[in-house]
Amino acid sequence: MKSIVHTPWSIQDATTLYGIHNWGSPYFTIADDGNVNIIAPAINDNPPSQVSLVDVISGLRERGLEMPVQLRIENLLDHRISCLNIAFADAIKTLDYKSHYRGVFPIKVNQQHHVIEEISHFGGHYNHGLEAGSKAELIIALSHITDNDAYIICNGYKDSEFIDLGLHAIKLGVKCFFVIETPSELPIIIERSRELGVKPLLGVRLKLASKVDGHWSDDSGDRSIFGLNTMQLMRLIEQLTESKLLDCLQLLHFHLGSQLPNIRNIRSGMLEACRYYIELVQEGVPLQYIDLGGGLAVDYDGSQSNNTHSMNYSLNEYCVDIVESIIEALEPHNIPHPVIITESGRATVAYSSVLLFNILDVSHFDPQPLPEHLSASQHELVHNLFDVLAAVHATINAELTEEKTIHKGHRLQENHNDAIHYRDEIRELFRRGQISLRDRGLGENIFLHIMHQIVKLLPTLDRIPAELERLGEELADIYYGNFSVFQSLPDAWAIDQIFPIMPIHRLNEAPTREAIIADLTCDCDGKIDHFIGDDGVRNTLPLHSLVPNEDYYLGVFLVGAYQETLGDLHNLFGDTNVASIRINPDNSFDVVTELEGDSISDVLSYVEYKPDVMKRRFRDVAEKAVKSGKITVAERRKILNDFAASLQGYTYYEE
Ligand SMILES: Cc1ncc(COP(=O)(O)O)c(C=O)c1O
Repeated sequence: MKSIVHTPWSIQDATTLYGIHNWGSPYFTIADDGNVNIIAPAINDNPPSQVSLVDVISGLRERGLEMPVQLRIENLLDHRISCLNIAFADAIKTLDYKSHYRGVFPIKVNQQHHVIEEISHFGGHYNHGLEAGSKAELIIALSHITDNDAYIICNGYKDSEFIDLGLHAIKLGVKCFFVIETPSELPIIIERSRELGVKPLLGVRLKLASKVDGHWSDDSGDRSIFGLNTMQLMRLIEQLTESKLLDCLQLLHFHLGSQLPNIRNIRSGMLEACRYYIELVQEGVPLQYIDLGGGLAVDYDGSQSNNTHSMNYSLNEYCVDIVESIIEALEPHNIPHPVIITESGRATVAYSSVLLFNILDVSHFDPQPLPEHLSASQHELVHNLFDVLAAVHATINAELTEEKTIHKGHRLQENHNDAIHYRDEIRELFRRGQISLRDRGLGENIFLHIMHQIVKLLPTLDRIPAELERLGEELADIYYGNFSVFQSLPDAWAIDQIFPIMPIHRLNEAPTREAIIADLTCDCDGKIDHFIGDDGVRNTLPLHSLVPNEDYYLGVFLVGAYQETLGDLHNLFGDTNVASIRINPDNSFDVVTELEGDSISDVLSYVEYKPDVMKRRFRDVAEKAVKSGKITVAERRKILNDFAASLQGYTYYEE
């Protein structure tokens, strides 16, 4: 479907249309040449610098890395870690808080080796640690944290092997906390710590009553899966006292949920947790740390609101509110200020990855030119549709008074009803063999003309009739993208997460089409049909017409959190190619790592096929074909070579 074009078109129009200044600042912008640039903000002694995503794609293609590519930008990851630590340090200084902040990154949010390596390397400046929710993640943490002032926080169910690993770490001088999530964990910890002769560092996860807004509201409240309720907490303290290990319980943990859009929920959760902190200290528990878990949100839609995909607070406000809440709660009781820990995952990594893909093809739902008049031989129903089209044209040409504008809505609704009625009648008669293929084709074409004309008129109505509201989407183009929603954007499918998505070039040109995006899977859920608009969610995305023999690239932004980890092999589309870049102060960039995505052979082995056996079986089929004279021996050789080469190929569309 064609979109309404602002003429003359400017970069500012594109900026507003895609909302990039809202969700992308300060990392993404549209440059004067119409390309999206990545901005590496000033950090330490490095001045700000920027590179164009188009140049990055050319650089990757020259190195043989084809689309789709998951692009990681190291500078943005560093900047996020730095912002988080600086914002807490500022709040602590301004409010005269008498302790400090330590961040830990939850490995589950992005477990990729290069990401964890960069977080532990750059995070070292701030003693930023890691959070592990399983044995495998603890092994990652233990092999990456070299700084004894950085913490490792162990959440999740812990068996004796998990606990032994953590106790060994404590012996080596690592500050490794076990957060007790369920009452059954304590006896194992006590038993293993006695056996190994190492005193554990313990935390306890609270089940807070405070409920929160947003998609993950079930992570808190009475029915949350993890955490101890008040009775269980009291029992835990008794058990620790009996075992003479109460001095090990130093950390109070709670997690209200991920992507918390509303600052008021964070503040009220904080106050409830502080009440526990005070009561426990007064009971003699030597608490020194308070860990808020994750939850710091990302403003995916850029609306700065308490929508599920947004946040109604800034990073600074988040830090100030936390520090202030603790001071206000603890000061009247003369309780020393605890070390503040957060486990921010999403807010740390989301910005640092962009999914880049090319468009392979487009389906249009545009009508073909019509004859000026129909011939008498054409079916009566086709004539009826033609009359409806004339009626819509008459509405367009009618002079508009305010009263007529109201009537226009009714008339268009009637025209729409009539058109659907005649179109359905034509289809029914076709099924019964009472109308020809040509008449059906002509009827469908007239129908499309009517719908397009109605859509054009909708913006001129004071009130759009409910039935016509989604007409534009029904006529939108389908742009076929070289990627899999299930592999690269699983949350877009599973929980209707909205990610910013837009063309990364040609933005000095007005987009003339309205489209939805389909992926390569042959699944009706493999599509994106919710987008960020300049004022809320829209169901189509304005895009440019494809130019023959020219690539058209789109970027999906803010995909660094959870997406790579949760992606699956639907239709056996595997991991995409991955590249990590670092933007240099002179506006050049280095490709720091490049990883080829899964080959077809890789994904087949993940689902328990044996590529060698498959080659043998196919060889037998080819041999039979030679014997029966269907192919020559030379053809057999070529076919088998191609089969073997396909096994080594990329799972996505290759040029
Ligand atoms: C215990 C815990 N900590 C941290 C996180 C990370 O949350 P976020 O990505 O919202 O910062 C989660 C995720 O749900 C979690 O369960």
